Amino acid sequence: MILSPKANPPKLIEWGEISSDKSLSHRGVIFSFLAQGECEIEHFLRSQDTLATLQIAKNLGARVIEDSQKILITPPKQIAPKAQIPSQNSGTAMRLYAGLLSGVRGRYSFSGDESLSLRPMQRIKTPLELMGAKMSSSYAPFELVGSENLRGIKYTSPISSAQVKSAFILASLFAKTPSEFSEPFLSRDHSERFLRFLNAPIEIEKERIKISPLSHPLKNFSIQIPNDPSSLIFFVVACLIADNQEMSFGNVLLNPTRIEAFEVLKRMGARLEYKITQEGFEPIGEVRVSSSRLVGVEVSEKISWLIDELPALSIAFACASGESKVSGAKELRSKECDRIKAVVENLKTLGIQAYELDDGFRVVGGEFIEGRVPSFGDHRIAMSFSLVGVRKRVEIVESECVDISFPRFYEFLAKIVEVER
Ligand code: S3P
Repeated sequence: MILSPKANPPKLIEWGEISSDKSLSHRGVIFSFLAQGECEIEHFLRSQDTLATLQIAKNLGARVIEDSQKILITPPKQIAPKAQIPSQNSGTAMRLYAGLLSGVRGRYSFSGDESLSLRPMQRIKTPLELMGAKMSSSYAPFELVGSENLRGIKYTSPISSAQVKSAFILASLFAKTPSEFSEPFLSRDHSERFLRFLNAPIEIEKERIKISPLSHPLKNFSIQIPNDPSSLIFFVVACLIADNQEMSFGNVLLNPTRIEAFEVLKRMGARLEYKITQEGFEPIGEVRVSSSRLVGVEVSEKISWLIDELPALSIAFACASGESKVSGAKELRSKECDRIKAVVENLKTLGIQAYELDDGFRVVGGEFIEGRVPSFGDHRIAMSFSLVGVRKRVEIVESECVDISFPRFYEFLAKIVEVER
């Protein structure tokens, strides 16, 4: 895809539906297995990752009725004792289904694409095996043997990861005895919120989550999924680095563990405001942003609250005056690609001084030059570097990977940037 500056982009854009939240779409499907009967998910995200999760649900015996915006999903009376779990590019699908199926007597063949097969699964293998499940390898493909007799354990995860935490919680709900979970710093907390909304036996005490065995199926639910802040961020950054633009977004997921990137941008001088207008099973609200003069920033805290946004933030860093530095973010090396390496290499190709750190990167603000960069098959790298098109012509090689989380990305980007296939 080739992106270049547009002659007269609109000054004001009020966005409607952008792209539904990926984390909540995955969880809507997977948590329906805990419910009594039919569950409804409105504005389900139809992207490659979340459709993989839906296909796996069908492989496990769920009945799914779908139209373009809504799905109705009825869990099977008994989860299939043998099934393929082709998770494609999705770490969330692989890790959460591994948690769910650990407590079901059966054998499950987990597989992923090239990128997912390189991502670490030891982080779920350790706790799930301590509880009594078996995983044949710490990388995909692997076979998972679930057990009806899981034992509850107290587990302290060495990393802050919502996928590890969610896998653990799901397995614990099927265990025979209570479990406890803690992590170094709170990771995104959708699973706890969602399951508590369904009255699941989960208590949160300071930094510990206590999970009791599920004694009966949870109530059927009906949820509406708001816009994904991790997809919105691309348009927020595009607006900030444009000449004179304003954007507003409605129906945005404003969970505090998802909006730290907005806080970082505010520290950089961004004219950005957000406001919660509705508190349901998640806080939802509005975001407003205007083009701004940005200054460099240091980011070393609350990393798990902005981990997915760091590639997009790197574009804001490149357009800021002065230097920016991210540290404590080694997890970036275990995402869909090594995002530290990808961000630094691509920024350098596009004329920006950037340096790798073991656990982050440094960027010196400057002027982009025209160029051609790879996506590394990583949707967030493709979308982040497409934003360079606001200022200079850029070609993204293998940009079709945006379909993993945001299939309409280029259609929307075309409102503010020239897009050529
Ligand atoms: C996700 C958790 C995060 C995030 C990923 C989605 C989730 O990963 O990066 O894109 O839906 O639980 P961690 O497991 O590293 O927190």
